[in-house]
Amino acid sequence: MSSLEGQTHIVTGAASGIGAATVAALIEAGAQVIAADLAWDDAAPPGGVERVALDVADADGWAKLARRFGPAGTRGLDGLVNAAGITRRARLLDVTPDDFQRAFAVNAIGPALGIQALAPFMRDGGSIVNVGSAAGVMAHYGIAYGASKWALRGITKTAAMELGPRGIRVNLVSPGFIETPMTASAPDAFREVNLEATPLGRTGGANEVAGVIVQLLSSDASFVTGAEVDVDGGLTGHGGGLPIARAMGFAHPHE
Ligand code: NAI
Repeated sequence: MSSLEGQTHIVTGAASGIGAATVAALIEAGAQVIAADLAWDDAAPPGGVERVALDVADADGWAKLARRFGPAGTRGLDGLVNAAGITRRARLLDVTPDDFQRAFAVNAIGPALGIQALAPFMRDGGSIVNVGSAAGVMAHYGIAYGASKWALRGITKTAAMELGPRGIRVNLVSPGFIETPMTASAPDAFREVNLEATPLGRTGGANEVAGVIVQLLSSDASFVTGAEVDVDGGLTGHGGGLPIARAMGFAHPHE
């Protein structure tokens, strides 16, 4: 993969799971990283990482982060990864307005605010990656969460269109079941049914999502924008065909 030596990238949701794995992969690729999350404990960060406290739903927080790049017109930022996210698991008949508002504020509006605040400080040719979800590709459990991730797809494509003239690329990765604290908090049945529905027959690691994110940030993906990459072991690709194929004698698990 092309080196990210000398580049500066911001990652949100950087304290845990996919965000933390992305920070590690960026460091590995030679980048300087500003790691943003709600709060940090006292553990020393690895070299090349600066930690900042940021609530992605707070426009003023993004404006403060942007100011560190200097006066308007200063373009010192190469990449932004919007990995912060929260889940809301209520079903349609139980979901509250607050579930919708919070899920949309963090998972959809947050990334949009980040792009709005930081794009003016990005170098021409910079790259932004939003972290969506398989729940934003199909009908899924948890309507507020899924709808917020569908919204993020629209934000990604519109941002890609508007920032294209500056050579700034904006893409989305949609993870399936990835082993992180978020999925550890789900009921056991959620894991089991995901394994059943995933052609690769296993869950994913946060590093497997991070690898794709960093590839999209790099110049290896220099003509890719407005795109969506499913990192889900085939979960969404079969579109419901897997149980049918199995019933017909194809695609048996553990064959
Ligand atoms: P995680 O729960 O391990 O990490 C999420 C991080 O985001 C946490 O460090 C949390 O403090 C931070 N965060 C939450 N709200 C925030 C806010 N308002 N401002 C700043 N930071 C905030 O979750 P995981 O699994 O690493 O998820 C990362 C992203 O991947 C999320 O957007 C999630 O929706 C998405 N995703 C995860 C999947 C999985 O299977 N783990 C599947 C599909 C999507």
